[in-house]
Amino acid sequence: MNVGIFCGTAGGTSMKIANSLAKSFGVNQDDVINMEDDFDDIEQLLEYNVLFLGSSTWGQGDVHHSWVDVLLDIESENIDFSGKIVAFYGAGDSVKHKEHFCSALGKLYDVFVGAGAIPVGMIPKDNYNYQFSLAQKGEMFCGLGIDEHNEAEKTNQRIEEWIKLLKNEIKEG
Ligand SMILES: Cc1cc2nc3c(=O)[nH]c(=O)nc-3n(C[C@H](O)[C@H](O)[C@H](O)COP(=O)(O)O)c2cc1C
Repeated sequence: MNVGIFCGTAGGTSMKIANSLAKSFGVNQDDVINMEDDFDDIEQLLEYNVLFLGSSTWGQGDVHHSWVDVLLDIESENIDFSGKIVAFYGAGDSVKHKEHFCSALGKLYDVFVGAGAIPVGMIPKDNYNYQFSLAQKGEMFCGLGIDEHNEAEKTNQRIEEWIKLLKNEIKEG
């Protein structure tokens, strides 16, 4: 299994998850891609069978700006992610932005799963408090959200539990 970790972040908070994933899955630093600095081409995403895709949320539930054109291109060019395993993560603020908490995860989910990828790492929505999120898919949250502004004390445990879940789901798949 070759794993690529992609992260769109402004302040580096989402990179905390990316770095924990890299450590736990033994991913080389070359395969941890900061979208703003290291990403040039969609081909980079297609190199991997397993993709951990991260973005903090901005504006009104938007992805980090480094993802915007990538998502548009995947859709407009009908890029095929069939058979690839994907998991989504990112930082948000469930108090100040409770009307769109971590919605970027939902936007990533819609594009990649729409392009045929197989999602793993969904967690019960009741793990969070918010009014609305595009990351909510039925009763589940479509990946790992962290909230360093209001629930920093939960972050390490959330990351650890999510990594355990990913390892089980990827092994089973
Ligand atoms: C202008 C602005 C808009 C934001 N919009 C959202 C939002 O819609 N939803 C959300 O969950 N967080 C929102 N946030 C909070 C950021 O996502 C949060 O600070 C996060 O920790 C940043 O992570 P990063 O350091 O990985 O970029 C917003 C923050 C700012 C300053």
